[in-house]
Amino acid sequence: MKALVLSGGKGTRLRPFSYSMPKQLIPIANKPVLEHILGNLRAVGVEETAIIVGDWGPEIRALLGDGSRYGMRITYLPQDEPRGLAHCVTLARDFLGDDDFVMYLGDNMLPQGVSHIAEEFRERRPAAQVVVHKVPDPRAFGVAEVDADGRVTHLVEKPQRPVSDLALIGVYFFTPAIHDAVAAIRPSARGELEITDAIALLVAQGEEVKASEYDGYWRDTGRVEDVLECNRELLDTLVPRVAGEVDAASELVGQVVVEPGARVVRSRIHGPVVVGAGTVVEDSWVGPHTAIGRDCVLSDARLDYSIALDGATVRHVHGIHGSLIGRAAVVRCDDTGPGRHRLVVGDHTTVEVAA
Ligand code: TTP
Repeated sequence: MKALVLSGGKGTRLRPFSYSMPKQLIPIANKPVLEHILGNLRAVGVEETAIIVGDWGPEIRALLGDGSRYGMRITYLPQDEPRGLAHCVTLARDFLGDDDFVMYLGDNMLPQGVSHIAEEFRERRPAAQVVVHKVPDPRAFGVAEVDADGRVTHLVEKPQRPVSDLALIGVYFFTPAIHDAVAAIRPSARGELEITDAIALLVAQGEEVKASEYDGYWRDTGRVEDVLECNRELLDTLVPRVAGEVDAASELVGQVVVEPGARVVRSRIHGPVVVGAGTVVEDSWVGPHTAIGRDCVLSDARLDYSIALDGATVRHVHGIHGSLIGRAAVVRCDDTGPGRHRLVVGDHTTVEVAA
């Protein structure tokens, strides 16, 4: 089975991060989302993957290379504009040939993996097999109506009155039957070729479309809140390891990873926390569910439930919570005068200060 990973798109919900990096490379527990995905694909036996890329193609290629580090071969397929998920299938037509494939949205995290669903698909080979997940409010999703045998009888995109709570999430298994369906559909009202339209066409034509429920943890990492929540979930399974230096005046509590070359000095770290390679944490407190990237500096800082990307600095600032601090960003308290804040804030940035 081949894989098609969708890593183009605009990432408008993840601004300002998506101005300077592709959202699919945002780290969750210090590992980019796409690397988590490639791990899942390898676990289902995929050896050949095509990645659809938009403007961020060079950055994605620089990280993932030819795929050999992940035990697979990676091909990059450029998409000029986000023209829809089904458009991505047309771009990959030659790459896919007549093989079965799994299509995986490049911002979706399913940490428990999809191996059992891939097995079901391999055994039965329905024309398509969608992955569904129970969500509290399915109105923002494609929703599947499923009969007692797990066969999809009806598929509706963003229904006002959902017929079930089973939302389609970002993983789909297809036989080559999908190609004719994709060729037959027209762009939707929002101007995109929708994969749900192609799958609905298969259902209407009487082809077998199955739904498999994924009941593990799932997140679409499209918004900052989701990135932080997903980071919390993954850090909860962290295996403690200290490869860097921790001085005698510091204390590590719970699951803490200190990567090679990192230094913890006169600080208290309350896990689950990961401190990236080359980072210095001094005179600081780092609380639960925090991931600090590589080569960061935390000095007289107090933060929890946050992510700091590579090269970030936090100095003399306490009470940081629920925050995502970008690459090489600086958060510091200086003597700007009593009651004053000095901010250099880029487009679509959020700054929340205490009342
Ligand atoms: P979305 O999250 O639906 O779209 P987006 O990335 O543009 O984000 P936003 O809504 O915040 O603007 O896309 C899901 C995944 O599929 C994501 O990894 C981007 C990818 N994608 C493509 O590669 N090509 C496309 O044409 C579309 C629509 C999405």
